[in-house]
Amino acid sequence: MKLIKVKNYQELSRVASKILVKEIQQKPNLVIGFATGKTPLGLYMELVKKYEEGKVDFSRVRSFNLDEYYPIKKNNKKSFYYYMFKNLFDKINIKRGNINLLDGEAPNPKKECLRYEKLIRKNPIDIQILGVGVNGHIGFDEPGSLKESKTRLVELSNSTKKINRTNKKALTMGIKTIVKARKIILLADGKEKKEAIKHLVNGKIDKKWPVSFLKKHKHLVVIADKSALG
Ligand code: GLP
Repeated sequence: MKLIKVKNYQELSRVASKILVKEIQQKPNLVIGFATGKTPLGLYMELVKKYEEGKVDFSRVRSFNLDEYYPIKKNNKKSFYYYMFKNLFDKINIKRGNINLLDGEAPNPKKECLRYEKLIRKNPIDIQILGVGVNGHIGFDEPGSLKESKTRLVELSNSTKKINRTNKKALTMGIKTIVKARKIILLADGKEKKEAIKHLVNGKIDKKWPVSFLKKHKHLVVIADKSALG
């Protein structure tokens, strides 16, 4: 695990953007797993800036997203579909056909999860961007999620429902799906993530803290500010 301690959120976003842009320049058809929430927003703003400066080309990049509320309409401002197009996809030259998201409108969630897993098998994720929940969740793999878990419909924990104030259920990549990524960049900012990061960095692997499943990953980069790193 590579730990990069940054002095603030702006530096966190800049460092993450620098890593990702370099990876895209080295592999133009990179497969990127994107996360949502507040933490990656600064990274996405940096990526848009780099694109506008002509420093990065997304035309061959393929993407997957970690999770989506279920059920939810794509045009619902709370959907991760809406979040991704508003904050990134509509502002760069990624091709619509290369964007893959879990469908919050799918009539059959089980079939949707199988569809998604098959797509990821055909396009293995090179770089997975992750945030982390206060309770140590990654994606929507909540405490109690199993190491072997795959993309599935989940019930959100009370703490997540309170923080996200949206649905009770969601579709999420599983732990097993996430750790298959060639490289993982985990972003954490703020003292409320301190407990989760402590379990990742110093704790043992424990399903009560799903982020701890990342400990053994061969290419994990953690970019965190001093309040999250403690
Ligand atoms: C959400 C998302 C996660 C995200 C986490 C932290 O529930 N499903 O992918 O990492 O919460 O979000 P934030 O970065 O806003 O703290």
